[in-house]
Amino acid sequence: MADTDQLRESLAWHLEAGVDECIGEAPVDRFAESAKAISAPVISEAKTAPRAAPKPAPAQRRQKPGASASEIAVENACALAGNANSIEELRAAVDRFEDCALRKTATNTVFADGNPKARIMFVGEAPGADEDRQGVPFVGVSGQLLDLMLASIGLDRAQFYITNIVFWRPPGNRNPSSNEIAACLPFVERHIELVDPDILVPLGGPAAKTLLARSEGITRMRGKWFAYSSPKLAAPIDAMPFFHPAYLLRSPAYKREAWRDLLAIKAKLEEN
Ligand code: URA
Repeated sequence: MADTDQLRESLAWHLEAGVDECIGEAPVDRFAESAKAISAPVISEAKTAPRAAPKPAPAQRRQKPGASASEIAVENACALAGNANSIEELRAAVDRFEDCALRKTATNTVFADGNPKARIMFVGEAPGADEDRQGVPFVGVSGQLLDLMLASIGLDRAQFYITNIVFWRPPGNRNPSSNEIAACLPFVERHIELVDPDILVPLGGPAAKTLLARSEGITRMRGKWFAYSSPKLAAPIDAMPFFHPAYLLRSPAYKREAWRDLLAIKAKLEEN
């Protein structure tokens, strides 16, 4: 009985700390592993199996006296993102960026999916558990709903490009904090400049508010066209906020409005 109580308490503690799934199929005895490591003979480097490819060198980090950690993060992100002149360079820059706390708890960086030459770009909020495991955005249930909705207007991942406003899964699927969003924003803005789509679709309130610098909720912004601009874009991009598919899964009554917005997006693609 005492064991059951302890297990229950331990489970509750893990849930509260943000652990909401088991990654391995079988339990791992870490105590046995560390005991083995202590007693194992030291093997010289030459005799060990080849190691995994080294991670890219971390970026040079600026340390401005008096600046807060979040100011330094934004400054480093601007420097790295500003030097990226292609999507691949930007992906490498995100890989080297160490100033967003989210990357410490994430399994993979989730950069983007789809066709970077597409005329339409979607920007969601943050990777979830499936995306974190696979390193690809929108592959879980909400991504599957989004794929279905876009297929209904003739779009598949060869015809659209998709990313998020943060590149790492927030622990326990909490909302990303304003500092975490601010640290990733220079990369997201450069991402949009490099893709330079005809149409930009922020998915859900946080992405819409961040990209369009507005304070209204998604119910007010959805279905309306806004002009998205940034200094290196030759011309503003037509942007329409759209309900996040996870919200549509929770509130299917809003699918009627979502369908109207999909038709407006399709018409805009046809008109350009
Ligand atoms: N929700 C998001 O906002 N992004 C993903 O990649 C997955 C779910």
